[in-house]
Amino acid sequence: MIILGIDTSCDDTCASIVEDGKRLLSNVVSSQVSVHNRYGGVVPELASREHIRNIVPVVEESMEKASLNNKDIDAIAVTVGPGLVGALLVGIYFAKAFSYAKGIPLIGVNHLEGHILSVFLEKRLPSFPFVALTVSGGHTNIYHVRDFGDYTVLGRTLDDAAGEAFDKVAKLLGLGYPGGGIIEKTAFDGRDDAIDFPRAYLSKGSLDFSFSGLKTSVSLYIKKWRDRNDNEISLQDIAASFQAAVVDILIDKLIAATNQVGVKSIMLAGGVARNNYLRNKLQETISDKGIDLYIPHPELCTDNGAMIAVAGYHRLIKGYRDDLTLDARSRFPLNQI
Ligand code: KG4
Ligand code: ZN
Repeated sequence: MIILGIDTSCDDTCASIVEDGKRLLSNVVSSQVSVHNRYGGVVPELASREHIRNIVPVVEESMEKASLNNKDIDAIAVTVGPGLVGALLVGIYFAKAFSYAKGIPLIGVNHLEGHILSVFLEKRLPSFPFVALTVSGGHTNIYHVRDFGDYTVLGRTLDDAAGEAFDKVAKLLGLGYPGGGIIEKTAFDGRDDAIDFPRAYLSKGSLDFSFSGLKTSVSLYIKKWRDRNDNEISLQDIAASFQAAVVDILIDKLIAATNQVGVKSIMLAGGVARNNYLRNKLQETISDKGIDLYIPHPELCTDNGAMIAVAGYHRLIKGYRDDLTLDARSRFPLNQI
C-alpha cells in the first residue's frame, strides 16, 4: 500500500511517499525559513502563500524521488491539525482534489499522531506501550502510547512550547531564527552551570510544563548582564544555562511519566528532539534505569510528510476514510482522533 503524506501545518511544505506504513520511498521538505526569518517568527499569511506556491512542485519531487507517478499512489493522507488554519487548508484542498481526481481514499491525520508514529520509519522499533514526548515550536506534550490510535495525554505545556522558548531566547540574544539549532551551537562553548535559571516543576507529581517563567527570567538576566557589561559570564554561558534548564525539566518529567505508567521505553519527536545536549543527557540519565530510548533521524524529528503517511496508513487499515467535507482544525487534541 503506497501512501502520499502531506503536511502544511506550519512553515514547511512537506510531501513524502511511504510503503506499508514503514518503508520511506521519498521525503521532500521545502523550508520557508528564508521567508520568515527577518520577522523573527512564522507569519501565517506568508506561510499560506508559500504553501500555495510550493505544494505542487514538492509533491512532484516526492514522486520523482520515489520513481513513481500519480497512478502508483493508493491513498493520500494529510494533516488536518493542529496548526495554522490558512496553512493547513492548502494541504487539505490539494489532498481533496488529488483524492477526487484519482478516486483514491483520503485520510485526515492529527499532526501529533504523525510525530509519535515517525519512529516506525526507523529500523529499531519500540514495542507498545511507550511514553512519547513531542517537543517542537508549537507543542510540548507527553503521551502514554498503548497502540496505534490509542493515546493518553499525560502532560502538556501550560504556556510556551519548549521550541518556542528556544526561539524567543535566541531572539533576545540576537542570534536569529529559528533559535533551537543556533542556541545548541552557541551553548556548546558555554558552561551549563554558569547561571541557575529557574526550573518550573509545577505541583507535585504534575507532568505539565511551563516555560514562560524561565523565558522571563532569561530576559531579565540578559538585560542586567548587558547593563553591567559583565565579562565573567559569556553569551555562550547564558545559552548553555538556558538550554540546561529546559532539558532538565523535559528529562525529569519524562522519567516521572515512565514511572507513573510503568513503561520501559521512551520516544522523542519534534524539532527540539534534534538537540544533542537533550539526547545525550537523556541517554545518560536512563542508562542505569533499564529504559530504552527511541529517536527518529533528525529529518524525521522535524515536520515531514512521511510521519503523516505512517499515521494515515494505520488509520486506513482500520477502515477510516474521510470525505470532501474534511476541514482544518487549529486545535486538535490527540484524544479526539
Ligand atoms: O517540529 P518542528 O520542525 O516544527 C513545529 O511543529 O514547530 O520544530 C521546530 C522547532 C523550533 O522551535 C526550533 O527552534 C526547534 O524546533 N529546534 C531545536 C533544534 N532544532 C530545531 N530546538 C533545540 N535544539 C535544536 N537543535
Ligand atoms: Zn510538528
